[in-house]
Amino acid sequence: MDPVKQFAAEREERLAAYAEDAGFRRLSRDFLEASMRKKYVYNFDWLGRPIIQYPQDMWAVQELIWTVKPDLVIETGIAHGGSLILSASILAMLDYCEAMETGAPLDPRQSTRKVIGIDIDIRPHNRAALDAHPLRPLLTLVEGSSIAPETVETVRAAAQGHRRVMVFLDSMHTHAHVLAELEAYAPLVSRDSYCVVFDSFVEDMPADLFPDRPWAPGNNPKTALREYLTRHPEFAIDKAIEGKLMVSVCADGFLKRVA
Ligand SMILES: C[S@@+](CC[C@H](N)C(=O)[O-])C[C@H]1O[C@@H](n2cnc3c(N)ncnc32)[C@H](O)[C@@H]1O
Repeated sequence: MDPVKQFAAEREERLAAYAEDAGFRRLSRDFLEASMRKKYVYNFDWLGRPIIQYPQDMWAVQELIWTVKPDLVIETGIAHGGSLILSASILAMLDYCEAMETGAPLDPRQSTRKVIGIDIDIRPHNRAALDAHPLRPLLTLVEGSSIAPETVETVRAAAQGHRRVMVFLDSMHTHAHVLAELEAYAPLVSRDSYCVVFDSFVEDMPADLFPDRPWAPGNNPKTALREYLTRHPEFAIDKAIEGKLMVSVCADGFLKRVA
């Protein structure tokens, strides 16, 4: 067998086995719960900025950006800016690779690829650090609630002219807020691109995991995306991504635009 095909076939077989492996799935779920209690998600940086994410999910983001090759990523929830810098760094790599392929000169300041980040509270120290970051030219920072009509209008206007758009929702994780974000930003997602809904795993965790937060089982991003999907058949859950990550906060949250 062709070694490339063989590698792919072995991978497919392995992932199919994971789906049937209740013990492995339970271990993954238990790791998520235990690690969340230990605040593991706060341990990492991307190119110098703290990123409040599980590394597995960021690996998936890298694969998605490489595959879809968006020219715009819209993210709700900036915090320290790590996820914005991650998206910007992969977009910059797309520019670099394109320049290598075409021989065109690479001028990062002329890049048409952008990341729009939205946060209700961009803390001064985080804004200053992002302003000083070499990838800053790729970022547009919008301060305001992600579901406020003026914010949505600003982002929609900034998205005009972009041809391939990807969206990451990672701000306030209540049902009502995420549903409103989906209504506002999912329509901007291009066909075959993704809207990734973070922290949907809350639905599958014990009720006491986030005692000081307004989200819990029954009121979280997964309940919101389920409701959204009943009215929006243009999106489908891509189960294959979480099926290989095994550790992901985006349970049912990798939404692919299929129509
Ligand atoms: C989990 S953090 C984002 C983490 C970031 N995406 C990362 O990967 O490092 C959530 C952020 O959402 C912001 N936030 C909370 N409510 C919001 C709202 N109504 N609109 C926009 N942002 C909001 C918070 O200020 C906080 O910075």
